[in-house]
Amino acid sequence: MSAKVIDGKAEAERLRGAVAEEVARLKADHGFVPGLAVVLVGEDPASKVYVSSKAKQTVEVGMTSYEHKLPADTPEADVLALVERLNQDPGVDGILVQLPLPKHIDSTKVLETIAPDKDVDGFHVVNVGKLSTGQWSLVPCTPYGSMMLLRSTLGKLSGLEAVVVGRSNIVGKPMAQLLLKANCTVTVAHSRTKDLPAVCRRADIVVAAVGIPELVKGDWIKPGATVIDVGINRVPAPEKGEGKTKLVGDVDYASAAKVAGAITPVPGGVGPMTIATLLGNTLIAACRRRG
Ligand code: GUN
Repeated sequence: MSAKVIDGKAEAERLRGAVAEEVARLKADHGFVPGLAVVLVGEDPASKVYVSSKAKQTVEVGMTSYEHKLPADTPEADVLALVERLNQDPGVDGILVQLPLPKHIDSTKVLETIAPDKDVDGFHVVNVGKLSTGQWSLVPCTPYGSMMLLRSTLGKLSGLEAVVVGRSNIVGKPMAQLLLKANCTVTVAHSRTKDLPAVCRRADIVVAAVGIPELVKGDWIKPGATVIDVGINRVPAPEKGEGKTKLVGDVDYASAAKVAGAITPVPGGVGPMTIATLLGNTLIAACRRRG
C-alpha cells in the first residue's frame, strides 16, 4: 500500500485565495484593509526567511504589511514599547512577534503584552485559556492548518483515536485541544513516553511535532492511518554531496508512506499552511475588531 500524499501547498493556495477574495470584498463594501504587523528582533537566518515570506504573502492577499526589524541588542523595554504602540494602532489588526527572541528578552512577557484580540499567533494566555475551555479564540496557526488538512483528508474526525507526539505550547498542546474539540480520543505523547511505538500504533491519526528528525517509523503506524508531520529539521545529506543538507520531518517518510493511508510530505505539507492560516487569523481578527 502506498499512502495518499496530502498536498499542503494546494490547500494553502486555496485558503489564500479565499482570504484574498474576502479582503477585496471588505475593501469594496466597507473601505478598510486588514493590517498585519510582524516584529523581528535580530538576524536569525531562518526567522528572516519566514518574516519576508509572511510579508510577501500578506501583500499578495491584499492586506497591509507592517515590518519592524530591530537589531539583536534591542532592549526588552523597547520591544515592549513597540508592541504597546502596535496594540494602539487602529490600522494594525494582527501582531506577530517572531520567535525565538534573543536571550536577553523574556518571550513570555512580550507575548503577554500583545492585545489578545490582535494575537494572530494565538499564544497569549487568554487565547490559550479560551481554546482549552472551548470558547472562541484566535488559534495557533500550525495546529489550525494541520486540522484543515485532516478535515480535507478524512472529513469527520469524531470518534477517531489521535496521538499527538510532542507537548509544545506552539503545536502539541493546542493540537490536542483542537482534536478534542473535534471529538477525537486524544493522547499526548512525548519523548519520555513509555513504548512510544505501541502508543502510536493505536492511532487513526498521528501528529508528529516533537522536533526529532525522522523519529516516527513506518512500523509505528497502524495500516491506513493518517500521518501529519509538523517537523521541519535540517539534516546533513552526504548523498547530495559534501556539506549538503536537506529538510526532513519528524516522521521517517519512506517507511511511513508504505503503511499510512495518507501522509503529509516535508516540505510541502503542513509548512505552507502555517502562513495561510496566519493570514486567515488576521482576517478574522480584523472582522471581529472592526465589527
Ligand atoms: N517561529 C517559528 N514558528 C513561529 C510561529 O508560528 N510564530 C512565531 N511568532 N514565531 C515562530
